[in-house]
This record gives sequence, C-alpha cells and structure tokens, in this order.
Amino acid sequence: MKGIVFTEFLEMVEREFGFEVLDEIINESNLASGGIYTSVGTYDFIEMQSLIVKLSEKTKLSVDELLYAYGKTFFAMLEKNHKNIFNLYSGPLEMLASIENHIHVEVRKLYPGAELPTFRIIHQDEHSLEMMYYSDRSMYMFAKALMEKTFEHYHENSRINLEKVQEDGTQVRFKIHKAGYAVS
Ligand code: HEM
Repeated sequence: MKGIVFTEFLEMVEREFGFEVLDEIINESNLASGGIYTSVGTYDFIEMQSLIVKLSEKTKLSVDELLYAYGKTFFAMLEKNHKNIFNLYSGPLEMLASIENHIHVEVRKLYPGAELPTFRIIHQDEHSLEMMYYSDRSMYMFAKALMEKTFEHYHENSRINLEKVQEDGTQVRFKIHKAGYAVS
C-alpha cells in the first residue's frame, strides 16, 4: 500500500479525533515502519489494518464506517492532485466505468507498487452501472465513498447499493444509479 494512503489517513485521524488518539493508535499498533511514512514509499497493508482496527476500538466506530469516512477524505486528495484525470470524463458513470481500464492503469505508472482493486463491469447503460469489486483488502466501503464523491464532483446525485458476494468483503457487487432513475 502506498505511503500517501497512510499519510492522508493519519492526517484525517488527527483532524477528526485529535493528536492523542493519533499517537495512541501508532504506538499500540506495533508497526514495522514505526509509523513513519513518506507519500511515495510502499508499506505493508497489515499496518493500515492494524491502525484502523485500533482506531475502531478507540472510537467505537466500525472499520466499515471508518473506511467510508476515509474514502471521502481521500477523494479530496485525488481531486486536488489529479485534476487532469477528472477532466477527461464528462460524467460520473463514464469515469467510474473507466477505473479498471484507464484510471488505475495510469495510477500504476504514477505510483509504482500500488495495490489496487479489480473492477469488472457486469452491465452498463446511460443511467446505471453494475460492477464487481475484487480485492484482498476488502475496502468496499472506501470504494463506495469514492463513488459517491465522484457523483458529487460532477454535480449529480447517486444511489449506490452494494451486496457482498463473499462474506469477508473480498468480492462485492455494486449497483450504481444516477438518482432519479428507477432501479432495474
Ligand atoms: C483520479 C482518480 C484516481 C486515482 C489517481 C486513484 C489512485 C489510487 C491510489 C494511489 C490508491 C492506493 C493504492 C495503494 O495504496 O497501493 C487507490 C486505491 C483504491 N482506489 Fe483508486 N484512484 C482514483 C479513482 C478511484 C475511483 C473513482 C474509485 C471508485 C471506486 C477508486 C477505487 C479505489 C479503491 C477501492 C482503492 C483501495 C484499494 C483496494 O480496494 O484494494 N479509485 N486509488
């Protein structure tokens, strides 16, 4: 996992829960890196998992709730640092349908060593997109937040349903609709 995912996460923790909580989760997580990350470095995903589980214990928020909140924060970084990618698409569904074959392909060049999910499009039309999410990291709530923010970015409303195909969240089906259109 890339360092930028850690640095953005730790900034969110400090902003939302304060320096003390930040300090505690770093000290109690037994991190190989010692909790020192550079945005271009690459670190073991286990470190992120430990940090989130510790944060969940401290805040009583679930890991899913925290990953969802973190997705919203991470999106702001994407908007700021990758404007050119957003400019390529005229709307949210076009953009989301391009993650697998274009966006994350570019990301692999920009962030060597990135560990990315796989998205497989099942159905696509003018108003909706159905995609499977596959990842050993089970960050589907992070994905949901990024999808919702993508709609907001283009000033459109969304309705996004997810269904776990694997109980552990490594395979999740997303049904993404432009709000205002009937769910099929
Ligand atoms: C400008 C557009 C985007 C850029 C530059 C980008 C970049 C990245 C980067 C750098 C990571 C971290 C990789 C790592 O830590 O090794 C990541 C992870 C991820 N991205 Fe993107 N991304 C973009 C758009 C999106 C969108 C719109 C989605 C919507 C679902 C998405 C879904 C994900 C997910 C779910 C992960 C977490 C990894 C996992 O689940 O296995 N990305 N992305």
